[in-house]
Amino acid sequence: MDLYEYQARDMFEAHGVPVLQGITATTPAEAKAAAEKIGSPVVVVKAQVKTGGRGKAGGVKIARSPEEAAARAEEILGLDIKGHVVQTVMVAEGADIAEEYYFSLLLDRANRRYLAMCSREGGMEIEQLAVERPEALARVPVDPNVGIDQAKADEIVATAGFEGADAVEIARVIQLLGKVYQGEDATLVEVNPLVKTGDGKIVALDGKVTLDENADFRHPAHAALADKSAEDPLEAKAKAKGLNYVKLDGSVGIIGNGAGLVMSTLDVVAYAGEEFPGQPKPANFLDIGGGASAEVMANGLEIILGDTQVKSVFVNVFGGITACDAVANGIVQAFELLAGRGEAVDKPLVVRLDGNNAELGRKILDDAGLAGLERVDTMDGAARRAAELAAR
Ligand SMILES: Nc1ncnc2c1ncn2[C@@H]1O[C@H](COP(=O)(O)OP(=O)(O)O)[C@@H](O)[C@H]1O
Ligand SMILES: [Mg+2]
Repeated sequence: MDLYEYQARDMFEAHGVPVLQGITATTPAEAKAAAEKIGSPVVVVKAQVKTGGRGKAGGVKIARSPEEAAARAEEILGLDIKGHVVQTVMVAEGADIAEEYYFSLLLDRANRRYLAMCSREGGMEIEQLAVERPEALARVPVDPNVGIDQAKADEIVATAGFEGADAVEIARVIQLLGKVYQGEDATLVEVNPLVKTGDGKIVALDGKVTLDENADFRHPAHAALADKSAEDPLEAKAKAKGLNYVKLDGSVGIIGNGAGLVMSTLDVVAYAGEEFPGQPKPANFLDIGGGASAEVMANGLEIILGDTQVKSVFVNVFGGITACDAVANGIVQAFELLAGRGEAVDKPLVVRLDGNNAELGRKILDDAGLAGLERVDTMDGAARRAAELAAR
């Protein structure tokens, strides 16, 4: 989950990272009140959207009075920045910027560690800097078991070329940013720019934080950071039921057991769909995992059938520890459960069962004679049939 800048700012503040005052506003009047409250001679009105390059897109503007803050907010609210419409601005205390630096800490999956990046040349062109003059961007690996301690912080700032008092203070701040990263279970903490002010202070002026949702159970407070308005309603519903569901654009609903099987099912369905009018594609990713109880199956079907774009459903199961007969019973009971909930299955369903106890599972389905359910025993054949049904 990506955070808005104002949420990152608050998180930084909670961990002692130096930040400036900032207050959110959703109307020009609120922006004016926020500027009055902050009371600094200069404030900056900043679009709160989850994309970079806000400054260049006209989403960051200076105001020298509360009235001007209202006027700038009026201009920024409603602005479309790379497809994100601005609904909230943050009115921030204006910084007297002497220099702009860059710092980030991210997960380096391939090497099973973190990577810290730091540069004396921060600001708005960091991607360009990384490409054109990579030597100006220090890259220092960080051992996750240690994090950014004093020695590592000193190494990072020295590699980036900081000296004297700046090096000492920046090393202090990046240790705190390391605490944000590890303490909050982030996969990215980026500060661009990290600035030095006219009076020599080091301040985080922008913040980008990505939290690892797999660690949500350790952070009850993170739930409040989720952006309900931007969430897909079906994805939100699936999440509430503990399902691994991702909405896609097509018309063939997909249920499978195991992420790998579901991924390859998406490919096979997309390929099969090319033969049919309108070229039906997968409508979702949904992995019901190993257990595949009737309830999980019913929940999965309910989510998929709730997608109005779905025209057919392909249930692709490879029996393993949970054998095919258990899954088949799960499907039969899921039909009953859904009928009981007033959500009877009203779209054609193609089921492929293979693997452990496949014969028994197929027999259970045949004996149940569920309306709209077809059994096809090969993955390619079932994908083809599901695509054909969706194309009708
Ligand atoms: N509080 C502030 N005071 C003064 N200047 C600011 C402030 N916040 C941002 N800026 C300036 O605006 C630029 C862009 O803002 P930033 O928050 O980094 O947005 P983005 O990275 O999305 O363009 C910064 O590099 C900085 O020069
Ligand atoms: Mg920035």
